[in-house]
Amino acid sequence: MKHVSFSGTASSLLPGLSGTSTVDPLCEGYVAETNVGQDMMQEGFKKFRRRARRAASSDEGAAIISDDELRPLDETQVEIAAPLPRKQQVQSRLPMRVEPWHQLPQIPFDFKGEQRTRLPLVSAFRRSPTARAFDLLRTRMLHSLKAHGWKRVAVTSATSGAGTTFCAVNLALSLARVPGSRTILMDLNFHTPSLAQALGIAPHGDMARLLTEEELPSQHLQRLSETLAVATNRNPDSDASDLLHDSRTADVLALLIEEMAADTVIFDLPPLLEHDDATAFLPQVDGVLLISDGEKTTAAQLAACEKMLAGHAPLLGVVLNRAQQTDRSQVTA
Ligand SMILES: Nc1ncnc2c1ncn2[C@@H]1O[C@H](COP(=O)(O)OP(=O)(O)OP(=O)(O)O)[C@@H](O)[C@H]1O
Ligand SMILES: [Mg+2]
Repeated sequence: MKHVSFSGTASSLLPGLSGTSTVDPLCEGYVAETNVGQDMMQEGFKKFRRRARRAASSDEGAAIISDDELRPLDETQVEIAAPLPRKQQVQSRLPMRVEPWHQLPQIPFDFKGEQRTRLPLVSAFRRSPTARAFDLLRTRMLHSLKAHGWKRVAVTSATSGAGTTFCAVNLALSLARVPGSRTILMDLNFHTPSLAQALGIAPHGDMARLLTEEELPSQHLQRLSETLAVATNRNPDSDASDLLHDSRTADVLALLIEEMAADTVIFDLPPLLEHDDATAFLPQVDGVLLISDGEKTTAAQLAACEKMLAGHAPLLGVVLNRAQQTDRSQVTA
């Protein structure tokens, strides 16, 4: 018995053969197990192949394929020669998917703080001690957030007027200076929404409608830059603050943050000791920044706030705003 290894089918290459053919695991071609006699010895087979090649080159017997022709193409050749599969051809004609963050409308914003706003924006005075205090707060806070994989920060105070919005805005502007980052600043003070005014922009969107999914994030949020988006509120409505208790709000926010691929989200909230909004919202945040008014917040009020937070959300730090002696905001974290 003789084994003849070749590429192609037994009948095309050796039309005169009779016998069985099986797959040879080593050469991955066919092996013809034949019962031919001594007349079809190796010499005869070589002669046959020479004749077969000549026939192929003169276009006679085009069905005969030589070993060379059947040698597999290397991968590079295949890649160059192969046409794109149909699915890929269709995809290449479709426009690239734009990220939801980039689909948000970008509005003009005075980062240099040349225009007068209700709040002093420390970005206008980059070298001032207050601006440096906000950068310090930003960096310390980012370290804490990163260490725990956190991103949601509530900014609140003991009583109203302590400077919550002032601190939330200036902290967000400082965060927005981190290249390649994404910060969202949200006005969740339904009683006195003042984020837009503090930033010197027109209030846009209805926060209650955003939280009840009647307004899409893409309709509500506005980008001030590549790194900062804001969600302001043009409709003060104390009753709407009940939404902060709603579990649906948690889902809406989770989806929004994921969709926007935000790194940090700052929530401007009402004071802890005057409304229950902030406490109701604590399950939705990773940590709290407590703003203490250097002129009026008492130690007892701060202690009361800490007690309210205990067991619900970590206190990331206490910011001493309007610190008289040193004329700058101080941070304890
Ligand atoms: N460090 C500061 N330097 C100068 N002005 C400040 C400072 N902090 C706050 N203010 C001013 O005090 C006022 C109240 O500040 P802000 O609106 O931030 O307080 P709030 O705690 O957010 O008040 P509310 O509880 O009503 O939301 C604003 O007019 C703001 O410009
Ligand atoms: Mg405020």
